[in-house]
Amino acid sequence: MSAEKKNLIQIQNEEESRRILENLKRIRHKIVVMSGKGGVGKSTVAANLAIALAKKGRKVGLLDMDLTGPNIPKMLGVEDARLFGSEEGILPVKVMDNLHVISSAYMLPHKEMAIIWRGPMKIGAIQQLLAQVYWGELDYLIIDLPPGTSDEPLSVAQSIPETDGAVIVTTPQEVSLLDIYKSMNFAEKLKMKIIGIIENMSGFVCPHCGERSDIFKSGGGKAAAERYKVPFLGSIPIDPKIVEDADAGKPFVTQEKDSEAARAFYKVVERIEEIVEGSKKKAPKRKR
Ligand SMILES: Nc1ncnc2c1ncn2[C@@H]1O[C@H](COP(=O)(O)OP(=O)(O)OP(=O)(O)O)[C@@H](O)[C@H]1O
Ligand SMILES: [Mg+2]
Repeated sequence: MSAEKKNLIQIQNEEESRRILENLKRIRHKIVVMSGKGGVGKSTVAANLAIALAKKGRKVGLLDMDLTGPNIPKMLGVEDARLFGSEEGILPVKVMDNLHVISSAYMLPHKEMAIIWRGPMKIGAIQQLLAQVYWGELDYLIIDLPPGTSDEPLSVAQSIPETDGAVIVTTPQEVSLLDIYKSMNFAEKLKMKIIGIIENMSGFVCPHCGERSDIFKSGGGKAAAERYKVPFLGSIPIDPKIVEDADAGKPFVTQEKDSEAARAFYKVVERIEEIVEGSKKKAPKRKR
């Protein structure tokens, strides 16, 4: 590569980094949702946390950073939305007045299309998203990472400066708990604080008789949190309605707000607010 071209790339990168910082500095709290392995419910947790925070009156953004399997827009029923630009940048898609979402899904020409992103292209796409999307002032930005702890989620996470920390999602199976080790290492590499651990798919409450069965065991997330001396944020039970609502594009925590799982999501949100905002609530509470 010629020296001129190298310089140009460097200038573009610097300009992009500057725009990323500029864009993200209006966001009070940035929370990364991650897990050591796939399919444990990261996107479900990210989407429902964002909605629960918005329902509590916070101004929230949800950033779907899973380039190969972006499914947040479908979960929230906004997969057919299109992106529009303004003078300030690309505008995120509205889910509620105080909840907006951006996903790489919106960069695909049609929803069934899969893009085979090569390494540098991926990072380029992510940095473009971060640099060009205009969120405005936000109380919270929830970031859904791709699964695992490989180079891909690592470079995605590295593109987001100054986060409040990571929420680790796990399931109660032992194999998933082993992955918590990897997640902790991952966060350490990024010098990212661990906000805490959520145990998802923790037990099943029979909708008919109300009896609880621990299908995948339960309590492992809490035990891991104690062992690694990080906060335990709560357990979300298995609820078939979570799958049904996600497939139908309806937000679970608002659709089934009286269910045990929805109540568990709200409790987790309270814990997260306490941890990231400290004992004093800095953000003014808006009306619900
Ligand atoms: N508590 C729960 N009860 C029932 N189903 C759930 C629960 N949590 C998640 N699911 C379902 O499990 C599946 C996987 O969830 P999700 O897509 O959120 O996982 P993920 O960790 O984001 O996956 P990936 O690693 O592929 O990004 C989805 O069908 C979702 O609806
Ligand atoms: Mg996901």
